[in-house]
Amino acid sequence: MTLFLGVDLGTSSLKIILGTETGELLGSTSRPFAISSPQAGYSEQDPDEWRQAFEQAMLDLIILFPEVAEASLILGFSGQMHSLVLIDQAGNVLRPAILWNDSRTSAEVQQLREVFGDHLLSIEKNIPLEGFTLPKILWVQKHQPEIWAQTWKLMLPKDYLVYYLTGQVYTEASDAAGTIMFDIEKQCWDEELLQQLAISLEQCPDIQPSTKIIGEMNAEIKQRLGLKGKVQLVMGGADNACGAFGNLTDSQTQGLISVGTSGVVLTYETEKSKKDLGKYHYFNSVIADQNYKMGVTLAAGYSLDWFKKFLAPEESFTAFTRLAEDSPIGSQGVTFLPYLFGERSPYFTPNLSGALLGLRAHHTRSDIVRGVMEGIAFSLRNVYENMGIQSATSFKVFRITGGVVKNPFWLQLFADVFQTKMEVLSFDEGPAYGAMLCAVAGKNDTQLMATWQAANQVKMIYRSNAEQAGAYQEAYERFKKLSDQQASAY
Ligand code: XUL
Repeated sequence: MTLFLGVDLGTSSLKIILGTETGELLGSTSRPFAISSPQAGYSEQDPDEWRQAFEQAMLDLIILFPEVAEASLILGFSGQMHSLVLIDQAGNVLRPAILWNDSRTSAEVQQLREVFGDHLLSIEKNIPLEGFTLPKILWVQKHQPEIWAQTWKLMLPKDYLVYYLTGQVYTEASDAAGTIMFDIEKQCWDEELLQQLAISLEQCPDIQPSTKIIGEMNAEIKQRLGLKGKVQLVMGGADNACGAFGNLTDSQTQGLISVGTSGVVLTYETEKSKKDLGKYHYFNSVIADQNYKMGVTLAAGYSLDWFKKFLAPEESFTAFTRLAEDSPIGSQGVTFLPYLFGERSPYFTPNLSGALLGLRAHHTRSDIVRGVMEGIAFSLRNVYENMGIQSATSFKVFRITGGVVKNPFWLQLFADVFQTKMEVLSFDEGPAYGAMLCAVAGKNDTQLMATWQAANQVKMIYRSNAEQAGAYQEAYERFKKLSDQQASAY
């Protein structure tokens, strides 16, 4: 018997899901970890905590499903994008990982724009932004040269986990693309750029396909976890690429909205939508020769968690978000701008700040909670409208994934704000599901892959209600005006 595991190394936790050869999802486990922000704009994590979270989540899984210990396993991985891990030749982590939502690199971004702007747009197909990996490397070269001097390999988070489990230093195109040192068309590291920036090709992981078995788990770790069968690994992909792989079945008509720590609007590239590079992120997916476009709200679910910490630390998340239902559409004039980490799309401005605007004495906690939930949806609509794909394409439906799917009220709010149908799938496991599908693909059995694809059906459809959509429109326009005003100051 072979079991398939999807391992998602997120920003707030590591999650493992478990599937069978008959297309059945048995369950999942997860272990949290913290972000440390030692200075304004800094966002870091200790990769050791990722390893511990992986081992603990595996042990939890074996307690729930003892068959995991005996079976042959194939593991696929997905992970937070862009975050930089540096290791020395002995495999030691040289400094905390600098995460995707860290914004310390504005000087490096400016330098890249001035010197390599055209090159990056033509080969990497993106404009440089604080969150991407390359500016983080330049920051380390400049501010911590002693660390850079010891750097044997640079890696993305999920690649570090694979390295720890197998000793192999690999990545794959979807995560390599997010470094912006990767030739998107040729699907190899951009050697010309690396050379000019004093990064050696040897420091970059070798590129593997997302769905090919690349090795086996180290015997010592297997023993520690009590795993007795063969344990093979496939690379999988970037979390958003895996989210798309697990949720979208028609690249021409479906888009993806994901509301996790960050919020994402993603569509696969279609013949009709090939233009306006630079307005959105443009990366390789986990499907060979299929690229995608994406815009990102940095603090989406993060904003709601952050407010809950202050407004209702003792309440359950469900009770907290239910408060929103007591406030009318438009939150009685309260507008929330979710720029707690500055903002990526559509403003590309790390200095923006979050704001709660329009407050008056009569407002209640409900208005604030609803205002925050609306602000997150408005921000993603603003992202979508500014990607320039709306009118050029035929995206008729969004599949929506992430923490948002637990909340029918918020799902309806998204349908009304986007004025589009929102579909929720039966396996709403986020990127972990796409990672597990990569593991299934590693078995190289087309029948099995088809079984899994057919198993994931649309569970719920939320349709836009014309009257509600009209009422949100006014609140959205207020949001957009206030956001544009704030952004124009930078
Ligand atoms: C995408 C991005 C985030 C992270 C979150 O560009 O930075 O969505 O991938 O894990």
